[in-house]
Amino acid sequence: MDCLQTRVTKVDFRNPILLASGIWGESGESLARAYAGGAGGVVSKSIGSEPRNGYPNPTIEKLEGWGLLNAMGLPNPGIVSYGEEVRFALSKGVRVIGSVFGGTPEEFAELSRSMEQLGVAAVELNLSCPHAKGYGSEIGADPALLAEVVAAVKAAVHIPVWAKLTPNTQDPAGLAEAAETAGADAISAINTLRAMAIDPVTMRPVLSHISGGLSGPAIKPIGLAFVWRAFERIHIPIVGIGGISRAEDVFEYVLAGASLVEVGTAVADRGAMLFQDLANGLDTLLRERGFTSVSEAVGAAHRK
Ligand code: SIN
Repeated sequence: MDCLQTRVTKVDFRNPILLASGIWGESGESLARAYAGGAGGVVSKSIGSEPRNGYPNPTIEKLEGWGLLNAMGLPNPGIVSYGEEVRFALSKGVRVIGSVFGGTPEEFAELSRSMEQLGVAAVELNLSCPHAKGYGSEIGADPALLAEVVAAVKAAVHIPVWAKLTPNTQDPAGLAEAAETAGADAISAINTLRAMAIDPVTMRPVLSHISGGLSGPAIKPIGLAFVWRAFERIHIPIVGIGGISRAEDVFEYVLAGASLVEVGTAVADRGAMLFQDLANGLDTLLRERGFTSVSEAVGAAHRK
């Protein structure tokens, strides 16, 4: 499937379909499982400076027909312990992107430096978790703060820097522009949409944190619109995320302007072999439409 090999932000990927952060990222073994299942690369769980428990249960709820609602609260073992997991995945030849979250530009920079020292191919900055006090979209929805973080990380590392952006804002493409201007090598769009559910029996919110983030099929049109608008405004690569479960979804994101995609919620349902199915399906779609590479198809829906 030569047609699927691609080079984005100076990193080679055997195909453009990556495991999204937050799914299967707890251990090096599960990252390796996604890669063995055919992923072109994997994005780690979002990792902070110190161990963090996250919110009490319930933290996740399946919303039939819509997708997954979650508010985990960024649980993670901290960068020092998590190093073992990254090293394990790398020892299996996995293309790893390290996801980090911090509360200040300096913390992001320090974490990114640690990820670089571990040997990841690029770092993805979580500027978009929709429900963690002092983190995620509390920083990333403000273009000036977002730019400070990106600039600090760029000054600290040599590996490519991807900024993962939030759709929970008035002007998503403005965030993409701020990231590009600050020096980001790519943007990843989108993280989950702020959402909630109430149990009619208990008459209480189903999540302990009350609101969380929605992922899955319901958010695909929103992710696609973000990618479309960003493609018209920025010149760095876009990593498309949101509601991908079929090869046609991947193809739509590519046509809208994504050079890579990340898949999360559907992997939880369908397992690692989903990656090979998506890659095979994308290969067929590209060839049927006369493309000889993924990069040729990127943004093709914009061409008149
Ligand atoms: C969480 O840990 O609650 C989710 C992280 C995210 O949405 O970025």
